[in-house]
Amino acid sequence: MLDLRTHGPVRSAAPGDAWWRSAAIYQLYVRSFADGNGDGIGDLAGVRAQLPYLADLGVDAIWFNPWYPSPMSDAGYDISDFRNIDPVFGTLADVDALISEAHALGIRIITDIVPNHCSDQHPWFQAALAAEPGSAERDRFWFRPGRGPDGSIPPNNWQSVFGGPAWSRVTEPDGSAGEWYLHLFAPEQPDFNWSNSSVRAEFEDLLRFWFDRGADGIRIDSAAMLTKNPLLPDLPELRPDLAPGPNHPFLDRDDVHEIYQAWRAIADEYQSRVLIGEVWLPDAVRLATYVSPGELHTVFNFPYLSCPWDAAQLREVIDNTLALNAPVGAPATWVLSNHDVDRVVTRYGRTDTAFSLARRSYFHSLAAGIELGTRRARAAALLTMALPGSVYVYQGEELGLWEVQDIPDERRQDPIWHHTHGADPGRDGARVPLPWAGDEMPFGFSPPGAADPWLPQPKEWRDLTVAAETGQDGSMLELYRAALAIRRSEPALGDGAMMWLPSAPGVLAFSRGTSVRCVVNISAEPACLPEHAGLLLASGPLDGELLPPDCAAWLRAAPVAD
Ligand code: GLC
Ligand code: CA
Repeated sequence: MLDLRTHGPVRSAAPGDAWWRSAAIYQLYVRSFADGNGDGIGDLAGVRAQLPYLADLGVDAIWFNPWYPSPMSDAGYDISDFRNIDPVFGTLADVDALISEAHALGIRIITDIVPNHCSDQHPWFQAALAAEPGSAERDRFWFRPGRGPDGSIPPNNWQSVFGGPAWSRVTEPDGSAGEWYLHLFAPEQPDFNWSNSSVRAEFEDLLRFWFDRGADGIRIDSAAMLTKNPLLPDLPELRPDLAPGPNHPFLDRDDVHEIYQAWRAIADEYQSRVLIGEVWLPDAVRLATYVSPGELHTVFNFPYLSCPWDAAQLREVIDNTLALNAPVGAPATWVLSNHDVDRVVTRYGRTDTAFSLARRSYFHSLAAGIELGTRRARAAALLTMALPGSVYVYQGEELGLWEVQDIPDERRQDPIWHHTHGADPGRDGARVPLPWAGDEMPFGFSPPGAADPWLPQPKEWRDLTVAAETGQDGSMLELYRAALAIRRSEPALGDGAMMWLPSAPGVLAFSRGTSVRCVVNISAEPACLPEHAGLLLASGPLDGELLPPDCAAWLRAAPVAD
């Protein structure tokens, strides 16, 4: 097997280069990556110290979850100052240093912007609370009087994504019970009113602020939710599942696209900057409009992330993705997991290997075989990294970490768990701090003598530390390192075309260009390898010329005879 790890060429960093079309992007959840100062919470000093780890892993870019000042009601997605860094993570000077150190290593930086809402501690919201109903300050948000004789009924029947009503009532400065404000997420996350021009101007300025600081890309949070029907109509009682789209009061409305057209024009003023949308939509045709010319560069592939470990369904998602991206000229993205969903090793080890945010508690109730899940996650990694387009690696995926489902209730932090009173277990299990080295907690996450990590780590993770997996044949980390190195050195991988090859039922086989083939066995029987001239990489041991179940291989294509 090839070890290209230290020899792979660094992808071109030329200005104007469409690097995002092929990039391997590491999602870095700062709070859980590495703790530099010993308070049990990851920070930018920790990230800077581990940049060589990420360079060695072979990623092209890092997407950081929000690092801004925040009361942390939703782990930083409640931002009180979009132009600074939360002291728990560091300072703007740390970010400047981080950006230049990453750039020196050939790694680009993507920051997370949350335009749908801010923190209730944001100066604009505080000013709105202090101002009168009908004031310019309140018009930046959605303030409305309540219904009923004393205004005690919320203005409409919308529910928060995190559980409970999407409205909270304020106390007016004179002490009386007052207006209500809209929050599609937690009450600490008031929604901006995007029909207000000062909101638009503020975010356009923010994009420039981060691009000027050297950010190479922006990940746009909850990107399909920004615009609302200004009449704020009730959702139909009998159709709480009303399809997103032009008729929906707040999901995927047509006028949201004007915002991104303006943002794209700003991104295009700079060299090689990328806009990435977090757009969860069931309708793939509408999803593609977000990446049509003059809008976002890419969107996350949530249908792929939610797809069960099933050959026919995976093939269908892959075909749909490529078919919808091709006409608009956008590259596909491939995502196995992120900070909002169950870790992939656990998901693939369950009796039902699909995922949906709405049914998290059902999925958590299923038994999960970690060994089976790990085997499949290894195969899925090779499938994912062989597909045309860019690929995301959520921190810890490269170590084979599993979803921690037994976090003690009193340690849980996710507002979803709190707002649903535990009915939804929430996302903490995918956010447990990384294990770096050693035999016991905190496994090198924090320096010696530090406070406990903000979430407890399973003791079994001693076998999944970076140190334990480094150089270990058959470890997830070495598989990711090898795959990312080959992906980087093979021009046929990354952006480009793919072609399906004939294969047995339950087997996915395709070629990338004339030089690389990928085969994934999702059936219960060993599968024959397609014709090839050598093995580049496999997710597990082969049985001669047979590929065992739940295994994948990258093959050097046989030379074509004249
Ligand atoms: C996005 C984020 C999620 C956050 C929510 C509200 O879905 O990925 O973590 O809670 O938006 O900002
Ligand atoms: Ca810290």
